[in-house]
Amino acid sequence: MKRIAIFASGTGSNAQKILTYFKDSDKIKIALIVSNKPQAGVLNFAKEFGTPTLIIEREQFLKGDGYVPHLEAAKIDWIILAGFLWKIPVSLLNHWGKKIINIHPALLPNYGGKGMYGEAVHQAVINAKEKESGITIHYVDEQYDHGATIFQATCPVLPSDNAASLANRIHTLEHLHYPPIIEKEILSQAD
Ligand code: GRF
Repeated sequence: MKRIAIFASGTGSNAQKILTYFKDSDKIKIALIVSNKPQAGVLNFAKEFGTPTLIIEREQFLKGDGYVPHLEAAKIDWIILAGFLWKIPVSLLNHWGKKIINIHPALLPNYGGKGMYGEAVHQAVINAKEKESGITIHYVDEQYDHGATIFQATCPVLPSDNAASLANRIHTLEHLHYPPIIEKEILSQAD
């Protein structure tokens, strides 16, 4: 059984889909939900699924032990980011190396990097008059939105779109693809 920690800062709709997808899996278990926000919506989903939670603080995460001992104690094999807004510290990258995955709501390498999250991403895509946007599922390295791409899917940007309508279309793509891509990636590397 591979044990996953989901890191999320917000609503957690992707986390909810991942929790649902792996609910009855005998190969992958969502063992922990980690959030930097005590009020984050994702914590309601954790409660609903009976998944343990860990609320983290900035200093300890970014400049301290990175909560590595907590994650080790929970026997975490993989870290899945689902709307997590802090940069991943070297302490975690050293420990989990190529076992940290993120999803970004645009087609990287464009429209990524610091500050490119939430509606800002979709507004930038619309401002640039792109005809297409999409999602990127990728490994995490020491730079924002930078690691190797695992998977991309596209959707149209319509002339009538605003950031909210494009965000909705992108969310649908994320919910469809993120859980099975996580499964495929983890199982392809299982020993
Ligand atoms: C998603 O759009 C994801 O791509 C980005 O943050 C958003 C999280 O949404 N990294 P939710 O909290 O899962 O609804």
